[in-house]
Amino acid sequence: MKVFYKIVDLQNALFEDRKSGKKIGLVPTMGALHEGHASLVRKSVKDNDITVVSVFVNPTQFNDKNDLKNYPRTLEADCKLLDECGADYVLAPSVEEMYPTPDTRQFEYPPVSTVMEGAHRPGHFNGVCQVVSRLFYIVRPERAYFGEKDWQQIAVIKAMVKHLHLPVEIVECPIIRDVDGLARSSRNTLLAPDERAIAPRIYEVLKSSIDYSKKHSLKDTHKYVVDSINAVDGLEVEYFAIVDGNTLQDVAEWEDSPYIVGCITVYCGKTPIRLIDHIKYKD
Ligand code: PAF
Repeated sequence: MKVFYKIVDLQNALFEDRKSGKKIGLVPTMGALHEGHASLVRKSVKDNDITVVSVFVNPTQFNDKNDLKNYPRTLEADCKLLDECGADYVLAPSVEEMYPTPDTRQFEYPPVSTVMEGAHRPGHFNGVCQVVSRLFYIVRPERAYFGEKDWQQIAVIKAMVKHLHLPVEIVECPIIRDVDGLARSSRNTLLAPDERAIAPRIYEVLKSSIDYSKKHSLKDTHKYVVDSINAVDGLEVEYFAIVDGNTLQDVAEWEDSPYIVGCITVYCGKTPIRLIDHIKYKD
């Protein structure tokens, strides 16, 4: 496995690979890798001849300076995991290398980019599109792999790919959970032990709301989820939205759509750490 810090060096290596007909898979990450990322890399290694993993904490997608400052950075451990997973190339550029001049492009794909995370983290998806489009131009992959944990992010990236006519297939990979149900996230490493102990309650409540939803209205199910999570000392729901899985718009009744997803963001602990998760009511 080769680690590149300069974009041009990676591009030179990929030029040779492409000349010999190799198919390229890209796994964009912000590092602090865990089993969720490993599953994306393994899938890319299976599907493609060359797998490139980018490790870059992208400043333009953070709307909170402290969140950016505290985001875990563990490049050495990340490279060890990536080598074990069979990745070929790692791109770990500096901020100056990725953004030699400020990125002034604006990406907005309403309604998918403006609701939920889009509404609560202004500029977040714009930053995600800035860096992901750059990575697509740099690597020119046949396929790119994203985890379903960031369910709305996948919808936004698909909208961008369509908008820019980018020749890349977006591969969605299932969410990976710890044994107690907590969705794997780089931010989980920031949880103190008492916070880590209560965090699995989020998915427990979401799971139990599936049964609840069978006998109750959508409005009551919404209240059940919010009240049950807020009842746990140390957890506070930022938003819970029950939306149509294609348009990401709120639905009022279970009968209103054949594809319904509940998306939640919860503040956990004193710091607090922001955790996101989702559940499919109808698929
Ligand atoms: O999902 C993430 O880790 C990031 O948003 C991504 C796609 C790597 C862009 O920085």
